[in-house]
Amino acid sequence: MKTLDAYNFSGKRALIRVDFNVPLNNKFEITDDTRMKATLPTINKILKDGGSCVLMSHLGRPKGGPEDKYSLKHLVGPLSIMLGVAVKFADDCIGESAQAQADALKPGEVLLLENLRFYKEEEKGDVGFAEKLSKLGDVWVNDAFGTAHRAHASTAVIAQFFTDKVCGYVMQAELDNAQRVLENADRPFTAIMGGAKISDKILIIEKLLDKVDNLIIGGGMAYTFAKAKGGNIGKSLLEADKQALALELLEKAKTKGVQVYLPVDNVIADDFANEANRQVVPTGEIPDSWEGLDIGPETVKQFSEVVAQSRTILWNGPMGVFEFPNFAIGTNAIADAVVKATEENDAFSLIGGGDSASAVNNAGYGDRVSYVSTGGGALLEYMEGKTLPGVAALD
Ligand code: 3PG
Ligand code: MG
Repeated sequence: MKTLDAYNFSGKRALIRVDFNVPLNNKFEITDDTRMKATLPTINKILKDGGSCVLMSHLGRPKGGPEDKYSLKHLVGPLSIMLGVAVKFADDCIGESAQAQADALKPGEVLLLENLRFYKEEEKGDVGFAEKLSKLGDVWVNDAFGTAHRAHASTAVIAQFFTDKVCGYVMQAELDNAQRVLENADRPFTAIMGGAKISDKILIIEKLLDKVDNLIIGGGMAYTFAKAKGGNIGKSLLEADKQALALELLEKAKTKGVQVYLPVDNVIADDFANEANRQVVPTGEIPDSWEGLDIGPETVKQFSEVVAQSRTILWNGPMGVFEFPNFAIGTNAIADAVVKATEENDAFSLIGGGDSASAVNNAGYGDRVSYVSTGGGALLEYMEGKTLPGVAALD
């Protein structure tokens, strides 16, 4: 794989696939710009070499035609400020005017293309569409790790039209950090798994059972474990058909000598709302009309102790409904513990996945852990051992 550092972009026009799929509020303001900030070093290196940049990305999941709320024009202002360069915008990602704008770029200039997914050909991996895109640059740089699990026109299919294919800094850092955790972890190695569904995390958990010393399970999926173990979970999240699987995972962990930590208490609510009534009960003793929305204080204490003793930490998925401040306490406490282990014990901490990454960033901890991944699904699939089309395309 060609690295960015090994390539001189002087006089070249780089066509960069970035993942600028960032959340916007209803005023079209960016509410988490992590993915954009992460890509700045790649863009700056190319500009500093004396090259120019054509940036292409998707935003959201438009239905196959232009939709104002998914326009990348909303990113032009913020990106210009971040780069200190007046970013130009092409209101179509292919066609004559986009081509003319790209051809007119001078060294040091940046052009952002309109949302690739305004063409259904993008997600279909259409070869003709990929070829049109390829004409916009001399060299293809893939820095969209967050979209590397998609075999789309701009992420993978386009590679065949370039002799020079370069791995961006984000892509490289993501792969290096994931590999460090999977292949080279200092021990004890603890994985913290959360989020709503076991079904989303089953493959990664199975993979991790061969790697980790400790497995902490929290968040929505822990209630399926509690139920499978014979507890009452009231109206909490349940994947009824995953109970046998949950017990099987616990058995497997035992055979492999992995210590599993499940919640011992929960913060429960009488409604799915921030202002709902709250109480703390032992896990598995949730009254019928109540639901668990967070881990409880005793669980926080136990999980934090395990984290404190760890030298490698992989965290994917929140411990509760952290979007509600009253039920974010468990997630924030785990974030505290991970930061502490990183700063005081020199642990290597990798935060993966959309929600846990937002939780860490929202708490202002982004710079105090070892690495916050820009990938959700992509990181999971990479860690499950799958070949990512966007990575394979760089070889
Ligand atoms: C993401 O946010 O998961 C990536 O940008 C990929 O987007 P997608 O899940 O809509 O393909
Ligand atoms: Mg996704």
